[in-house]
Amino acid sequence: MEKDKLYILAFESSCDETSVAVLQDDKVISNVILSQEYHTAFGGVVPEIASREHLRKIVEMTDASLKKANIEMKDIDLVAATSEPGLIGAILIGLSFAKSLAATLNKPFIPVNHIQAHLYSAFINDTQPEFPFIALIVSGGHTLLILVEDFFKHKILGTTIDDAVGEAFDKVAKMMGLGYPGGPLIDKYAKDGDINFHEFPISVIKNSKYNFSFSGIKTSVLYYLRDSNFQANRNDKLISDISASFQHAAIKTLYSKVRKAAKEFKVKDIAISGGVSANSYLNQMFKTLEKDRYRIHIPELIYTTDNAAMIGITAYYKYLASKDKDYFSKESLSVKARPRLDFTNF
Ligand code: KG4
Ligand code: ZN
Repeated sequence: MEKDKLYILAFESSCDETSVAVLQDDKVISNVILSQEYHTAFGGVVPEIASREHLRKIVEMTDASLKKANIEMKDIDLVAATSEPGLIGAILIGLSFAKSLAATLNKPFIPVNHIQAHLYSAFINDTQPEFPFIALIVSGGHTLLILVEDFFKHKILGTTIDDAVGEAFDKVAKMMGLGYPGGPLIDKYAKDGDINFHEFPISVIKNSKYNFSFSGIKTSVLYYLRDSNFQANRNDKLISDISASFQHAAIKTLYSKVRKAAKEFKVKDIAISGGVSANSYLNQMFKTLEKDRYRIHIPELIYTTDNAAMIGITAYYKYLASKDKDYFSKESLSVKARPRLDFTNF
């Protein structure tokens, strides 16, 4: 075992994934993820069920992650967990468990912002983005366009003024009677569909070139389904065509704003992360930018949706960047690392 390297044990429990990872510095050694299935029947995540499932599984998942990494608890040098934002009860399970472990092991604890973790998931790849770069974070809860000048030096250029893009995918899928989460299903159906089948309009936001709005397109799909008598005509081809047209409009707006920002800030690296970055059409569209010598960084599929490896890598960089390492041994175990629902300190 190389003693100069840090072994990090990281936890993610902000929504419906219980995940535990072990990293050696910035290298992921194990990343076990349990996606709770109980929510499917409800068409969305039920917070109370999520908390209870995290509680039921967290010890088992920790053991599995350590076993997979082939190390023991005593080898751990740092403990990290998601501390914000997310479902408060769900976060509290992972956060309290992780803090207790850190206190017992007498090791530093590092609280991690979940959105920042999606951003730094781009660094799990072999080729890492070079600063400054444009980051697009697209998940079920957030749509953020960010200029990343250095580690933890972020300037938010734009965000959604209503629904997150993943939320729009989920809602459109629900309207067509597909399952939850809807993003992967829309992605799958869209592969056999026609992007020109119908033009779903994307709202233009006055006086803001980098903000997003996805509530209008969702409503326009709703009206289209109603006016075209979708329920009576429902078939796979129709679902595919609507999925392809909706997906094209949603992804194109992300693409246009990212390209505009990359040009304005003269960056060559673009990192896209969060659940929606798993989308195959998004991957295809953004890769076309490579012909203009942009470098596109999208995490491996397993790191696009919620996972503890991204918490671990963010904790690693946060620890390296911190001038006061003692902070993580003392205050971070106290009230200062309490969970928060917003992310004003992003
Ligand atoms: O990052 P994530 O796992 O959780 C949040 O932090 O929200 O993102 C989940 C979101 C869901 O809305 C899901 O439908 C969407 O990511 N998603 C996709 C795809 N895979 C997951 N959306 C479009 N295409 C996909 N292939
Ligand atoms: Zn997430």
